[in-house]
Amino acid sequence: MTFKKQSLPERTRDDFPILSEVSSEGQPLIYLDHAATSQKPIQVINSLRHYYNHDNANVHRGAHQLSARATEAFEGAREITANFINASSAKEILFTRNATEAINLVAHSWGGKELKKNDEILLTVMEHHSNLVPWQLIAQQTGCLLRHVGINQQGELDLDDLKEKLNEKTKLISLVHISNTLGCCNPIAEITEIAHKYGALVLVDACQSLAHQTVDVTTLNIDFLAGSSHKLCGPTGIGFLWAREELLESMPPFLGGGEMIEEVFLDSSTWAGLPHKFEAGTPAIGEAIAMGEALKYLKQISLEEIQSWEKLITTYLLQGLESIDGVKILGPPTNSQSGRGALATFYVKNIHANDIAELLDSNGVCIRSGHHCCQPLHRYYGLQATARASLSFTTTINEIDFFLKELNSAITFLKKHS
Ligand code: ALA
Repeated sequence: MTFKKQSLPERTRDDFPILSEVSSEGQPLIYLDHAATSQKPIQVINSLRHYYNHDNANVHRGAHQLSARATEAFEGAREITANFINASSAKEILFTRNATEAINLVAHSWGGKELKKNDEILLTVMEHHSNLVPWQLIAQQTGCLLRHVGINQQGELDLDDLKEKLNEKTKLISLVHISNTLGCCNPIAEITEIAHKYGALVLVDACQSLAHQTVDVTTLNIDFLAGSSHKLCGPTGIGFLWAREELLESMPPFLGGGEMIEEVFLDSSTWAGLPHKFEAGTPAIGEAIAMGEALKYLKQISLEEIQSWEKLITTYLLQGLESIDGVKILGPPTNSQSGRGALATFYVKNIHANDIAELLDSNGVCIRSGHHCCQPLHRYYGLQATARASLSFTTTINEIDFFLKELNSAITFLKKHS
């Protein structure tokens, strides 16, 4: 394979101080766990530092200049987030702690109001726990039923099964855009078209897609989208929910407290307008501003360039894994028409994924092992644990080569000693 001289890693790696870290054994660290959390460019780190050095104050409440500056930057980050996903208005962006909280917000606020006994929520077997447990909790409260779409032979969402399970009782389909374990990219626009025919809403968990391709809520025509800053080169502790304005208007508050009120009496209160109705308490101000900086950073690199570089290196990674004796890869084949996220989850029979990850770590290679917050998916395949290498636009071919070489040696060693 030949690659352009000025590849994305060459252009971007210097922005990430952590990529110059060395392992405890003195080797260059190779971070292949971007799906768990992305690394942060200096622009984002500087944004946090700038906020706390120069602008720190509470938002929306002070008459003083620091509060005005903090509020302007905070609301600016909301605008950037809205533009990033092509939302019609910044009012449709609710800042949350993370994507998990965003999904819980929908489950409790929308679900608590709209769902009743025997209504159905359609999920998929490939969801991570954040898109399963909130629905289990609301099902216990409302008596609604949870149904789960399976996976086809290709390792992709089984659309025939989805069509079979969708019916007039389905109130919502909540599903992942790119699976953090299978790597498959679900055909959201197609699913939304079918769902809306039955009057069902669609929630997309976009944690694994937002930093890797353009995600446009208007084109996808969905109803809710959950995103997480720390998977987008931004800080932890901040994420967002996007929902159509009329849905948010119809939903009751999720948490109560300061910021989300208009007037408070001893026995009752009235609510602030959007988006503040859903943002109780002092938010993660500096983190939201830094998330905005991260989104600007990704846009400036170009999501199209990121996607095309990651497609090349993911194919390279998958082909490398396929050539190692005994390695089985989960998810769709390398040449899948529907696309594949920048990750590969794999296992080797009779070798524990944790042993592979530990041996790789001793040579400076960081990958994830375990169930990747997808226990039901692992059970579906009869597996306890798998190993996962996940990439980013900063990942180089040399890093993948080193990983594959070390993986080969680790497997040879573990086969001999097990
Ligand atoms: N869902 C995250 C991952 O895939 C935590 O690692």
